[in-house]
Amino acid sequence: LFNAVEMAPRDPILGLTEQFVADPNPKKVNLGVGVYYDDNGKLPLLECVQKAEEKMMAAHAARGYLPIDGIAAYDAAIKALVFGADSEAVKSGRVATVQALGGTGGLKIGADFLKKLNPTAKVLISDPSWENHRGIFRDAGFTVENYPYYDADKRGIDMDGMLTALNTAPAGTIVVLHACCHNPTGYDLTAAQWDQVVAAVKARKLVAFLDMAYQGFGQGIAEDGIAVAKFLASGEDFLVSTSFSKSLSLYGERVGALSVLCQNKDEATRVLSQLKIVIRTNYSNPPTHGGQVAATILNTPELRALWEKELAAMRVRIKEMRGALVGKLKEKGVQRDFGFITQQVGMFSYSGLTKEQMVRLRNEFGVYGIESGRICVAALNSKNIDYVAESIATVVR
Ligand code: LMR
Repeated sequence: LFNAVEMAPRDPILGLTEQFVADPNPKKVNLGVGVYYDDNGKLPLLECVQKAEEKMMAAHAARGYLPIDGIAAYDAAIKALVFGADSEAVKSGRVATVQALGGTGGLKIGADFLKKLNPTAKVLISDPSWENHRGIFRDAGFTVENYPYYDADKRGIDMDGMLTALNTAPAGTIVVLHACCHNPTGYDLTAAQWDQVVAAVKARKLVAFLDMAYQGFGQGIAEDGIAVAKFLASGEDFLVSTSFSKSLSLYGERVGALSVLCQNKDEATRVLSQLKIVIRTNYSNPPTHGGQVAATILNTPELRALWEKELAAMRVRIKEMRGALVGKLKEKGVQRDFGFITQQVGMFSYSGLTKEQMVRLRNEFGVYGIESGRICVAALNSKNIDYVAESIATVVR
């Protein structure tokens, strides 16, 4: 039966972590996967999470099945966080939200739902994009193509290219947009550019699917919600997948959500019923722990305030590391100006290093980054930055 099964290629991101774990080099640094480590190189367990868990443990609650769409208090907290507690859309009940297995899970539920709704639609993802976007939508049965996004020569966004692609896409095309902290480039649209994108999506009757996996890692929770706010104001239907993997440092708990903005409450009720079928036929219902932690934090004012403080500290440290890396590279005599790293936002930097340079970094120095040149600056710290900068300086010389 399995004789003809072909070996699948290694995942470009998580496969690299497997290789990193197996590497005996004591100086190795994993700048591959998008994970925030603290200044001691440790994965943080946030204090707000510890406190929420203490509260939960004290309650000794049994673990029954959750509803198919997840914990009601969690879904309500997501709506308030993503769209604003006072937003008309939330108040009028026209948002359908389901708890999902991380941001990836939210994208997958949305992709399967959209495939049933409009099986012939095409999907456009940014060029470049998070490696898994293509796979998720392709395996949901869609043809996936790119829209231009990154302009390597100007180290920024190819706005004309992006708008041309949107303005020539057939009605019903699903456009996957990075709401903030673009992965992998680190270049986000400005408010004015979002206006142009929203206008094109509206004019061409496209379907926007926002991926917001890094809310709070760019400029702040509210600031990073600008794309969602603009789509909300446009009056269009759209989808948003969100995640607490990074913002609550709950990677392994798989805590995310999918929200679908509808025209009215009746529509949202019908959409929710369809999302529940997708979930039920895939994994029945979500797990309890992570969703309960997130709901406890978001719905307890002191814990929510503590979370915001801790998230801000992560954001600030990443920014410091960006500046420090640029400074160290200069110090090491690198002629090329890497100042653009401080212009990028979020966890990643599209470093401009070639595939060959990334392979050398990995093989000769144990410095792991994605072969596209993406490095996770959130994994740099005051102890490894000198080694990383020296390694980069050697391969660019
Ligand atoms: C990443 O881009 O590194 C993260 O989103 C982790 C993942 O699942 O790929």
